[in-house]
Amino acid sequence: MKAQTPADIIVRARRLSRTYHPGHSEVIGLNRVDLDIPTGALAVLKGASGSGKSTLLALIAGLDRPTAGELTVAGHDIDRLSAAQMTAFRRKVVGMVFQSFNLLPTLSVEENVCLPALLAGAPLTATRKRAADLLDWLGMAGRRRHHPAQLSGGEMQRTAIARALINRPPLILADEPTGNLDSRNGDMVIQLLWDLNRQQGCTVIIATHSDQADDKATLRLHLRDGALRPEKGSR
Ligand SMILES: Nc1ncnc2c1ncn2[C@@H]1O[C@H](COP(=O)(O)OP(=O)(O)OP(=O)(O)O)[C@@H](O)[C@H]1O
Ligand SMILES: [Mg+2]
Repeated sequence: MKAQTPADIIVRARRLSRTYHPGHSEVIGLNRVDLDIPTGALAVLKGASGSGKSTLLALIAGLDRPTAGELTVAGHDIDRLSAAQMTAFRRKVVGMVFQSFNLLPTLSVEENVCLPALLAGAPLTATRKRAADLLDWLGMAGRRRHHPAQLSGGEMQRTAIARALINRPPLILADEPTGNLDSRNGDMVIQLLWDLNRQQGCTVIIATHSDQADDKATLRLHLRDGALRPEKGSR
């Protein structure tokens, strides 16, 4: 199951491609991408609408499968995972944060945060303790029993970040995490992702149109028409 990848490279792609076939047409989502993301990086992924950012994140997250090429994430060869192994991979290796938060409306904040851990078989008491600690850290302690509809956008995104972290994944993927937030809440979300990167050593990949994370990036990536133009950033 484990592929041969240096331990200091958490995402390795070679000629990674994803082609869609809606109707009788062919749409290129990602075109022969070569990529090495070092463990501990904070990578900022940019590119025009339709350039392939979400496609790339979905492949790395194990939400989708490549149509060609190789992809290794945290030592797992994505192409060789069975459906059950993919599910375990999604729960344990990656935490995802989306533009539209994707919280379950009928569950409370605490229940939303605990759900991925309980699905992975973690014990309830320890899970609730970790959720409380995360929500505390995110300034959400007073909101545990509220439902998503009662929260502001910034609070919903902080809940989604707590949910992404509950299983202690080494890799956090954020797809337009500030897209539905005002600049103050957007800055707070970027700051939280940066803290996670620096303080807890999580590798973070942020796909974004905004410049808010530019000065935090250790790696800047640019997609155009599904192809990657890497450039080294500094911090
Ligand atoms: N399920 C799908 N079926 C067909 N085509 C798709 C599908 N998902 C994405 N595409 C196409 O793949 C290309 C890349 O889309 P993707 O969503 O990755 O772009 P993006 O960079 O995330 O754009 P945005 O900034 O608007 O979110 C686009 O041409 C898109 O229309
Ligand atoms: Mg997108």
